Amino acid sequence: MKPVVWGILSTARIGTVQVIPGMRKSKLVDIRGIASRSLDKAEAAARELGIPRAYGSYEELLADPEIEAVYNPLPNHLHVPLTLKALAAGKHVLCEKPIAMNAAEARQLVAARDRTGLIVEEAFMVRHARQWKRVRELVASGAIGELRTIQGFFSYYMDDPANIRSVPEWGGGGVLDIGCYPIVTSRMVTGLEPGRIVAAVRRHADLKVDWLASAIMEFPNGVIASWTCSTQVADYQRMHFVGTKGRIEVEIPFNAPKTVPCRLLIDDGSDLHGGGIRIEEVPVCDHYAAQGEDFSRAVRGEMAPVTSLESSVANMRVLDAVFESERKGGWVKL
Ligand SMILES: NC(=O)c1ccc[n+]([C@@H]2O[C@H](COP(=O)([O-])OP(=O)(O)OC[C@H]3O[C@@H](n4cnc5c(N)ncnc54)[C@H](OP(=O)(O)O)[C@@H]3O)[C@@H](O)[C@H]2O)c1
Repeated sequence: MKPVVWGILSTARIGTVQVIPGMRKSKLVDIRGIASRSLDKAEAAARELGIPRAYGSYEELLADPEIEAVYNPLPNHLHVPLTLKALAAGKHVLCEKPIAMNAAEARQLVAARDRTGLIVEEAFMVRHARQWKRVRELVASGAIGELRTIQGFFSYYMDDPANIRSVPEWGGGGVLDIGCYPIVTSRMVTGLEPGRIVAAVRRHADLKVDWLASAIMEFPNGVIASWTCSTQVADYQRMHFVGTKGRIEVEIPFNAPKTVPCRLLIDDGSDLHGGGIRIEEVPVCDHYAAQGEDFSRAVRGEMAPVTSLESSVANMRVLDAVFESERKGGWVKL
């Protein structure tokens, strides 16, 4: 397969530190250019990462006819506007999560995709990760009996007012940043959409962004998923899938290590001290490499995008419902 020629919109930390080095592990990815609002920054990043071209604006990169696909890791409020511009310029787009500020905005991308015939995909790396493929296999094969409940947690501590996550107008706050992960993984493993949700949310008094949120989601098959996310407690992440005959604990569900195997703790429930736990190591996988490779294959028509835009709109609807529940103080039907 001919490698896909990529351009990167911005010198965002997630791109320069994780996604670009990951993608470059794949022979199907040829990263040809990087753009920044500042040419100096673009040139410095290009030098450091060995990318041949640097552009002093996002628009210049989009005007380069050699670029076939664009990775968009801009702040959340720029995901849809720049993705629309890239589509209008004839580029396929891999756009960071959350793909939009809300579901209505995400639907604009569905219309643009249908108009242009180009691929747009939300960069939910967990959907490409080997450990999550294994969790899905285990649950589907009945390894824990019938799945009954899911429990998730994702947190870190950050109090920098200059961080993009501290600005409400830019889509700041923990729910959009990390609450989206227990939501997407619960939807992915059940293969279903929640029917209703209730949430409790705490907001920063000055910055107004949410720093703590917990939610309960009911799925139509009876599964209840609950999760907490916070940007102002100690770093922690875990997902539990509990069934009638056992439990799977995903030890590092989201920031999966790239140099050592991930561990799944599969507990038959026979011993509360953990004597019934079998540890399964999932071979090393750089989920950013897998994501870039899968997207490149989709561009060449070798596979469908792993995350459909329709699924991304559905994820945004759940995120919208978290905030609606916060406002009205009760259950929200989806
Ligand atoms: N999938 C994952 O694992 C993962 C992990 C972390 C973050 N993310 C997502 O990636 C995105 C970026 O996160 P990040 O932590 O990498 O952010 P960041 O380091 O702050 O980067 C954002 C970039 O956007 C550009 N930008 C354009 N307009 C801006 C503005 N008004 N204010 C600030 N920056 C602006 C800047 O690049 P230039 O100055 O070069 O133009 C900046 O470097 C977010 O959507 C986040 O949710 C995903």
